[in-house]
Amino acid sequence: MQVSEFCLGTMTWGQQNSAEEGYAQMDWASANGINFFDTAELYPSRPTVDTQGRTEEIIGEWFTRTGKRADIILASKVTGPEDGFNWIRGGVSRFTESSIRKAIEGSLRRLQTDYIDLYQLHWPDRGWTHFRKLGQTRPNSDEGADRAETLATLDALVKEGKIRAWGVSNESPWGVMDWIARSEATGQARVASIQNPYNLLNRVFDTGNAEVSMNEDVALLAYSPLAAGHLSGKYLDGNRPAGSRLALWPERSGYSSDYGNEVAAKYVALARAHGLDPSIMAHAFVYMQPFVTASIPGGTTIEQLQVALDATTVTLSDELLKEIHRLHRQHTYPCP
Ligand SMILES: NC(=O)c1ccc[n+]([C@@H]2O[C@H](COP(=O)([O-])OP(=O)(O)OC[C@H]3O[C@@H](n4cnc5c(N)ncnc54)[C@H](OP(=O)(O)O)[C@@H]3O)[C@@H](O)[C@H]2O)c1
Repeated sequence: MQVSEFCLGTMTWGQQNSAEEGYAQMDWASANGINFFDTAELYPSRPTVDTQGRTEEIIGEWFTRTGKRADIILASKVTGPEDGFNWIRGGVSRFTESSIRKAIEGSLRRLQTDYIDLYQLHWPDRGWTHFRKLGQTRPNSDEGADRAETLATLDALVKEGKIRAWGVSNESPWGVMDWIARSEATGQARVASIQNPYNLLNRVFDTGNAEVSMNEDVALLAYSPLAAGHLSGKYLDGNRPAGSRLALWPERSGYSSDYGNEVAAKYVALARAHGLDPSIMAHAFVYMQPFVTASIPGGTTIEQLQVALDATTVTLSDELLKEIHRLHRQHTYPCP
């Protein structure tokens, strides 16, 4: 059996989680029919100059130990430019040919493999609204690489067998449509997937990207289905359980605003009123969306991953979905 809608998130390994815990999560995943792993050149997150690349190394070590590389669909990402990460590739992280080639050679070496199944642009290299850069009403002047060069490089990597397919992440509807138009005009490899946030506190994807995903066959890999843990309810009333992400990195989450907490509390109460663990409701809601190809849960513990797996078999009732819809109409974008 394969659990095709579950992609194992790895971003905590090598920092919040030890290498041994990472190996154990991959053992658990492969024993439970989960054969899709998502990682990135940048991980573990939160990113630091000392730990960058460690997550890919842990996955590579596991491949070599277990001989399971061919069993896994492996997704990784090339880092784009972002303030604070200027140490990536010596500060040259635009998606030029030389920059992408440098990135993939590093990833392949750390991952101890000669190919990556899905290679994603971690975020656009033009400045726009990803990562809560709210309030911009016009695109920045295009400060990224020449997009024709980026696409030609990705196409060449497919032809060389270094990647099987490529995708985007934190991308807008225009961005996806522009990549598609370029591929249609040139015959070069078409964008296969988009990895964007999607959860009950952030449903921005509904209003634009979802239509592109479904009509243009660009698979959504939905990240942060629990809004980085907030939808479990454990952070309500200012709680910061020892060892949790927010206890370790209080500044870390964009889901911790007063309004985000207020709305999270409403979803948590709704789940409980329907006799459900709030995490199950949050995960199941993501799996149930017709435009979601796979959800990417992250777990610090295997028990948390088991909850995400259990939710793949849960169908939320029509009555509960109506209540979720009512809440969503009242609080449409608490954490965009
Ligand atoms: N493309 C991108 O820019 C991007 C951005 C973010 C994530 N991602 C991908 O998506 C993956 C998942 O992201 P995420 O970690 O934010 O996902 P998430 O599933 O929303 O949050 C996972 C975290 O919530 C807590 N948690 C999970 N299950 C729980 C439960 N049942 N009860 C209480 N707490 C629970 C755990 O943290 P604690 O135990 O520490 O509390 C866990 O690490 C990442 O690994 C990465 O692969 C991609």
